[in-house]
This record gives sequence, C-alpha cells and structure tokens, in this order.
Amino acid sequence: MLPKKFHIYSFPDFKKARVKPDTPFKREDYISLNENYANLSSVLRGKKVYMRTYGCQANVRDEETMLGILKTFGMKRTPNKEDADLVILNTCAVRENAEEKVYGEIGSFKSLKKNKPTMKIALCGCMCLEPPVVEKVVNTYPFIDFLFGTHDIARLPTFLHRAFVMGESFVDVISSSGEVVENLPSLRSERFKAFVNIMYGCDKFCSYCIVPSTRGRERSRLLKDVVDECKGLVKRGYIEITLLGQNVNAYGKDLKDGTSFASLLEEVAKLGIKRLRFITSHPFDFDDELIDVIARYDNIMKYIHLPVQSGSTRILTLMNRRYDREGYLSLVNRIKTKIPNVALSSDIIVGFPSETEEDFLDTLSLVEEVQYSTLFTFIYSPRPFTPATIMKDQVDDKIKHERFIRLSKLSEKIIEKQAKKMVGKTYDVLIEEISKKDDSFVSGYTENYKLVHVKGDSSFIGKIIKVRITSSHTYSLIGEIIDGQENN
Ligand code: SAH
Ligand code: SF4
Ligand code: F3S
Repeated sequence: MLPKKFHIYSFPDFKKARVKPDTPFKREDYISLNENYANLSSVLRGKKVYMRTYGCQANVRDEETMLGILKTFGMKRTPNKEDADLVILNTCAVRENAEEKVYGEIGSFKSLKKNKPTMKIALCGCMCLEPPVVEKVVNTYPFIDFLFGTHDIARLPTFLHRAFVMGESFVDVISSSGEVVENLPSLRSERFKAFVNIMYGCDKFCSYCIVPSTRGRERSRLLKDVVDECKGLVKRGYIEITLLGQNVNAYGKDLKDGTSFASLLEEVAKLGIKRLRFITSHPFDFDDELIDVIARYDNIMKYIHLPVQSGSTRILTLMNRRYDREGYLSLVNRIKTKIPNVALSSDIIVGFPSETEEDFLDTLSLVEEVQYSTLFTFIYSPRPFTPATIMKDQVDDKIKHERFIRLSKLSEKIIEKQAKKMVGKTYDVLIEEISKKDDSFVSGYTENYKLVHVKGDSSFIGKIIKVRITSSHTYSLIGEIIDGQENN
C-alpha cells in the first residue's frame, strides 16, 4: 500500500525496463516535449536548488542537464541544504552501499523540511527505477515530495509545475526507454572539459548488473547531433571532451546505417579538440578498426578503460560477459602492439557467486599480466532482479573482503612501480584545479590519466602545461613546470 499523499502517474517496473520496445526509438525535441509553462518562471525565479549526485558520469551529465533546465526558469544552485527551496537527490543503484549513502542523506532532510515546509524534496536517478526502493521511500520518508527516473529528466518542467504550482506529491517513473531527446539545456560544471553523451542504456545484461534496468535499452544519438555538440564545445574553447556511454563500442548498432563508434570517434577527433577521451569500452565490441583510429590521432588520449571484471573464464561465462580470459588478453595484446604507449584501466568484481580461490588466482594473474595503470575493485553486491542474485554458492563476506584486500595490494604495487618509472620524464598535464591538500599547488592529469601536482596558481587552470615529474606517490605524482610556457 502506498500513502494517499502520492499521486502515482507511473510506477517503475523491472520487466518493462529490460524489454526492447517494438517500435524504433523516438527522437524528441526538448522544447516540444514540454508545455509552455508560462507562469513557472515567475514562481521559480530566484529560488535555490540543492542538488547532490551519486554514481557515474551518466548521472553527472544528467545533473548538468537538470541544472540547465532549472536555470531556464531562473533558479540558482546552492551548496547549503538550509537555503534550498528545491532539493534533488540524483541517486545510484549499482551496489548496495551506494544506496545506503542515499538513505543516509534523505534522513538528514527530515528536520530541515519541518523547519521549512515549503521546501520541495525530490529523488531521481537510478534508484527510482527499483520498485521496492520507491515503495520504501514513499512509506518511510513522507517528507519527500516527488520521485522521477532516468528516462524522465527532460520532463522536469512538468514535475516542477506539479510540485510548485499545483502543490502535488507524486511518483512518475517511466521504465521503458522509448526515446532520445535532443536540444536539452545544459549547465556544464567545467569550462574546459566536457562530457558528451553519445548513447544511453545498455543491452549487455551482465548477470550481476542493475544498469540495464535503470538506464534501459541501448539507443544512440545521431552522429550529426553528437558532432554538432562537440563542434560547439570546440568553438567555446573546451580542451577536453569525453564521449559517454555504458558501452561506447556498441554506439551506432541500433541506427542500422553503418555508423560505428570508430567512425564517430574519428569525426570528433577531426574537429581539433585537444584531448578526446571515451568511457566505457566493453571488450566484446572492441574491434581493430577502433584500435587503428585511436592509434592514428594524436588528440585521442592513449588511455582505455577496458573493464575485465574477472580473470577466470568460468566466472566470465557466469557473468555473461561474452568473452573469455584468452580473448581478453589477445585484445589487450593487439591494443598494446598498435598503441605502444597505451595505459589500460579496469573494473574487477571480487566474490562473484561461486568464485573459488582458483578463479580468484586467475584474476590476480591477469592483473599481473596486463599491468593496469588504474584499477577499480568492487566487492560483489547482489542487486534486485539480476540473475546473479539467485545463483548458488554466494561467497562469504569475510572471503570477499579478504580477496578485495589482496587484489587492492597487488594493483597498488603495480601502480606504484609505474609511477616510479615516470620520474624524470616530461608529460603534458591539463591543469584542473587548486590542489586539495596544498593551495600553493595545482593539480591535473597527464594524457594517460595520472594525477600530477605542480607549484602554481589559479591562472594555470584549464591549460595544458609541460611538466617534469620529480617524485612519485602511489596515486599521484609531483612535478615541476619545465619552462613556464603554457602549451595552448
Ligand atoms: N558500463 C560500464 C559501467 C558499469 S557500472 C561497464 O560495463 O564497465 C561500473 C562497474 O561497477 C562495473 O564495471 C562493475 O565492475 C561494477 N559493478 C556493477 N554491478 C556490480 C555489482 N552488482 N556488484 C559489484 N560491482 C558491480
Ligand atoms: Fe552493466 Fe555489463 Fe552493461 Fe556494463 S556492460 S552497464 S557491467 S550490464
Ligand atoms: Fe549508478 Fe546508474 Fe551510473 S546505477 S553507476 S548512476 S548508471
């Protein structure tokens, strides 16, 4: 039973989320999607939004879109919860601990809302696509005003109208992924590096992963729309573009017009952006044409995030990853041969159901062989409605933690060794910010995504400078500017 307070426009449905629609994906325009809420600006102008985003770059990009939409109605962002007229918590569902953090934050609004009853509190993002989560939220946290999902971002004006003008509390989470919306407003959080969505959703259905349910089926933006957005960014002086998708190599498959990720990447590289990156690559769709394009263009960074998830073929099969250990290693060899200075990074899950010590040793030996420059290690977390949750032989928590520590130690050793090798050499570094630990330093990333700190001030931010590395820590390097000459 759901509390009466909430009007249910649509409720999430795991089954619908994973089904491919019969009809082709619709291409919509943001402006024509929403009614012209003429009086909304007068209600919202000057009001403040507190927005907190969890999870991956897909959510970060959604945050920029939502802030862009809110700005069109005259709203401003505030970092202070107390000042907020609207709170939006943009959630992540990938692991249980991601959800726990969100519940902790929701709780903190109970007393704030009591003191300021006009405050509207909304929950959006991947957790809202989970029916049990929505049920729990509306029953446990009655001070929440409305919930919407990842496919509903473009309808934010409608939600604002309902909440602020009509005074409604509601759930409106659409599960089926039917459309690609263009011409969305956007308030980019950085002025020199930008994320650009090239596609939405994921069709891979790895057996542990909730993302196909929360982000829907794969749908690509048209090549022209992506290139136009990138062209605009180059014109506005952006230095780095990262092309985004859950599985960028599958880009274009649904367009059925011969477009591939390799062709898109080449088109964007030709625009002359200084640094071009992409995440995430799935090993299954990584073809030689793509390797050649990465090798051919200097402005495509020689850093590839190529999640392996496990080094054991038996576990990879249970994970439904569609490649085996040998296939992955042979891809890595082809990449390393054609792109000699490449840096590879990866995601690995430890403690997947039925993972034995032998399987885990396969993972350790694969990590040793590939020598990743960055490794993200995760403890397997059962997710609702995913096949792995009901697999036999779930691994004991103690063993999962022990494997997590062993893998982290190995990767730390490899990363430390790589960092030491960089000492004395010169790298281009894109300076991003004042260092967090010492404000007489600035920090940025090399082409192969190593974090570097150098003495400097805010005038360096957004510039590529040549830096000689003088010393190394495991996860960062210290350097000195070679000639003080900026490189742009
Ligand atoms: N589309 C990307 C990112 C998916 S989520 C990809 O395929 O690489 C990021 C990472 O979270 C995954 O690569 C995986 O390592 C991890 N992950 C996903 N589901 C998980 C789960 N149930 N438990 C633990 N880690 C998980
Ligand atoms: Fe999840 Fe697999 Fe898709 Fe990545 S490729 S989002 S891990 S289902
Ligand atoms: Fe999390 Fe959703 Fe991204 S589950 S990792 S925010 S796609």
